[in-house]
Amino acid sequence: MQYTIDEGQFRTLAAEIKQLKQDNKALIVAHFYQRPEIQDVADFVGDSLQLSQLAAKTDAEIIVFCGVHFMAESAAILSPEKLVLLPEEHAGCPMANMVDAESLRQRKAQLSGCQVVCYVNSSAAVKAESDICCTSSNAVQVVKSLLPGEILFVPDQNLGSYVEEKVGRNMYFWPGYCNTHDHLTRENILNVRRQHPNAEVIVHPECRKEVRQEADFIGSTAGLINYVQKSSVQEFIVGTESGILHQLHKVCCSKEFYLASEQLVCPNMKSTTLSKVRDALKNLTPHILVEKETRLRAKKALERMLACS
Ligand code: 13P
Ligand code: SF4
Repeated sequence: MQYTIDEGQFRTLAAEIKQLKQDNKALIVAHFYQRPEIQDVADFVGDSLQLSQLAAKTDAEIIVFCGVHFMAESAAILSPEKLVLLPEEHAGCPMANMVDAESLRQRKAQLSGCQVVCYVNSSAAVKAESDICCTSSNAVQVVKSLLPGEILFVPDQNLGSYVEEKVGRNMYFWPGYCNTHDHLTRENILNVRRQHPNAEVIVHPECRKEVRQEADFIGSTAGLINYVQKSSVQEFIVGTESGILHQLHKVCCSKEFYLASEQLVCPNMKSTTLSKVRDALKNLTPHILVEKETRLRAKKALERMLACS
């Protein structure tokens, strides 16, 4: 995939970033949905679970988190002694904003005694109200690890219904969804499949059920990349955010990938640019701070998830 800046700009910024990174003993991590040039300057590119695991164990003093707010916040919860920088401070996740701590407390009061599983795409305050977190790659495992009894899954109803099908346990859902994945329709998949009849369909579990039903494989971003690498199939219709194409082309350069819809772009993920990464390293801001009491409660839910991953 092409960079969104020209080669000359890339080389200049990449050199500045490399120097600043060494001077500050910083680690740059990026999600698979980031712009290609950001992925290429990062020390590590991964899915939400891999990035959380890395944040929990790295000994770097500064983590530059190229992703969205909840991801950097999770790193700050797990590693409070480190300086966690989010180069674009307004890079949020609209789905994470669909649930807040007060509404969750009210729902918990209605469903007294239920266990709350919260998708990592949520605020620290929501995590603090939850029993355990999950990401798209371990959600099935996390729900399987729970004791008998009622479960409330927040905030993604699409991931929730995917887990319900896999585990065979009924759950209550929060009516949240990802603006980017929820827009993908069955019709989009069928259209691309008509043009590429030999291609397999791979989708993220944040897609609607009607889309998941058309898929040959459903997985987290890392799960999709892993599946494509191991497969003998040559062509894939990709039902997740466009940034993943950069890694897919890198790891499987002889295979063909067709995005299931041109709309599969998360503007929040794309709001981080290379010059903002440079500026974050230069100014050591914007940094993410989580108030102590919330942080300790949220940490429990994240650590419980990491223990069963
Ligand atoms: P992954 O956990 O699969 O990386 O997904 C994160 C995300 O935000 C999906 O929209
Ligand atoms: Fe949030 Fe969807 Fe963007 Fe992921 S792709 S960060 S869930 S809005």
